[in-house]
Amino acid sequence: MAQDKTFYITTPIYYVNDIPHIGHAYTTIACDTMARYKRMKGYDVHFLTGTDEHGQKIQAAAETKGITPQQLVDQIHVNFKDLWRVLNISNDDFIRTTEDRHIKTVQAVFRKLIDQGDIYKGTYSGYYCVPDETYVPENAMGPNKTCPDCGRPLTIMEEESYFFRGSKYVPELIKYYEEHMKAVMPRVRYNEIMSFLKGGVRDQSVSRTSLKWGIPVPGDEKHVIYVWFDALINYMTAVGYLDNPEMFSKYWPNVRHMVGKDIIRFHCVTWPLMLLALGLPLPAEIIAHGWWTVDGEKMSKTRGNVVDPFKMVKAYGLDAFRYFLLREVPFGNDGDFSELALVSGINSDLANDLGNLLNRTLQMIQSYREGTVPSCSDASSELSRMYPEVLSRVDEALNNYAYDEALKAIWEFISRSNKFIDETMPWKLAKSQEDSDKVSLSHVLLNLYESLRLAGLLIAPFMPDTAKRIYSQLGQDADPLTLNYESFTWGAGAGSTIKKGEVLFPRIDLKEWKKAREAENAPKAEEPPHEAEIGIEDFGKVEMRVAQVVKCEEIPKSKKLYKLEVDLGYEKRTVCSGIKAFFTTEELTGKRVILVTNLKPAKLMGIESKGMILCASVKKDGKSEQLTLLTPEKDIPLGSRVS
Ligand code: ME8
Ligand code: MG
Repeated sequence: MAQDKTFYITTPIYYVNDIPHIGHAYTTIACDTMARYKRMKGYDVHFLTGTDEHGQKIQAAAETKGITPQQLVDQIHVNFKDLWRVLNISNDDFIRTTEDRHIKTVQAVFRKLIDQGDIYKGTYSGYYCVPDETYVPENAMGPNKTCPDCGRPLTIMEEESYFFRGSKYVPELIKYYEEHMKAVMPRVRYNEIMSFLKGGVRDQSVSRTSLKWGIPVPGDEKHVIYVWFDALINYMTAVGYLDNPEMFSKYWPNVRHMVGKDIIRFHCVTWPLMLLALGLPLPAEIIAHGWWTVDGEKMSKTRGNVVDPFKMVKAYGLDAFRYFLLREVPFGNDGDFSELALVSGINSDLANDLGNLLNRTLQMIQSYREGTVPSCSDASSELSRMYPEVLSRVDEALNNYAYDEALKAIWEFISRSNKFIDETMPWKLAKSQEDSDKVSLSHVLLNLYESLRLAGLLIAPFMPDTAKRIYSQLGQDADPLTLNYESFTWGAGAGSTIKKGEVLFPRIDLKEWKKAREAENAPKAEEPPHEAEIGIEDFGKVEMRVAQVVKCEEIPKSKKLYKLEVDLGYEKRTVCSGIKAFFTTEELTGKRVILVTNLKPAKLMGIESKGMILCASVKKDGKSEQLTLLTPEKDIPLGSRVS
């Protein structure tokens, strides 16, 4: 029975070949919020995150850096630990798959499945890129069966491999899902998984001989265990499958996996099949969220648009970032990240709605009641009547992982409270000498105070620091995160002494912000290729003089050239110039230009050209895109030398 009040929640364990980005931050913040919420609801919560440190990708990344895989993972996993500290993540454990506790667990599981006949030896065959040492799935091959990465021809390769007899448990899994429609959320993912399962599942290869960086198969060390088989078991390792049966039986039946939609097959098919083979309870819930794009584009290193959570927190504050991620998109859907949307959210929801409610309320309690929250015989109001409904809406939303809905419910309550100020007009009541108005004023102030005390409690799982700051300004000693929703009683805040402090969320001036962004994003001119350095004597060899175009004609059949007659004052010359695309003949006639006069004459389209007109141009792929003539800035006699 004790296990009913436990809640075990996990993030995926992240690959350490990558630097953490908003995608990783999102999953982890969503889990953190849930963990904090459940703790406030009185659950015994275990919240796990960690890093996935074996496999081909890690081995390759280490090779590129010229270090050992162990050195790589020792360095890089720290980035994730640092980020979780910065994001105020309340994980109870951080697992690394290179830890001893995990290696032992994986080997024990593997051994058990071999012993019971659910892992067997067979041959794996597939298309293999020998130089890259990697199998290429048939749907990823390049033209003529080549490697999609290096373009070299693939060979059919057969290797000895261990297989997991997952196929045996598929009917049982289908039955479980039919009986537990909420085991995979949201519904679109559930449907996707069901149709995949019904399409049939083959036994999967769970070992490699081509790879070194992994957990050795017990008793057959030329094989290492496939990285996904290894990785999924982390969820069991961390709650003591091997050596802590008490902990394991307490948390395991209530395990929840939060994952991105990219890895649901591993979590909703492979993993439960493994658990069925092991005779263990299946995950209570697997929750798949959508993917973030950035300003409408897929986030990728090559695009250079990867959003760095460290940078966002520094620029906008942690709680604003947490709020935005969970409020912006319905959980489960894909979302688009834009800083502008983040800034707008800060200004409207945080600075305006929440921040103002706190400021106005504390200001009034300060000036009308010298900082002490008044009491009154009957504290009930529209706000007090609204609050149980808010609590249950938040609860229902969060039970469905609908973070955005929960925040919406909280913000409706905050807006209602702001409206309550406008309707009751406490500033008018404060001016009145009537006793009944004094009572009304106390009633209004107490209600506003209580709505803030409740709001602080409600936002605590989402924005732990902000909740604390609100409570401290309200003069409440307790950290709201240590409180339980059930213990909240409307009216109990009477008599508190407030401590007005700093503004919670300063407004961001949009104009200034845009200016700063533009300056930051202004395209920086690329360093052009340069010619070798020359001496002044080399430059002096080029004779350039001011000239005037006196005649301009088209050259039949030439798309680029004009035939120009130019006057140097002391002589007239014919020059062919490839500037037709940029000027009409009229535009050129009469123009003063700079002419290189000592260039060796050249025959162009049968015409002898004596000299070259100077232009400045922007070139792309060798072609001019923009072009302008150089002309003397003041009137100066034709033939004047340029130096
Ligand atoms: O897949 N939007 O690790 P991983 C939202 N090691 N979430 C995103 C995202 C995006 N653009 N990009 C990544 C692995 N994520 C395995 C997991 S678990 C036993 C092994 C999040 O480093 C999302 O949660 O590639 C996704 O599932 C996770 O990062 C993948 O992290
Ligand atoms: Mg990935």
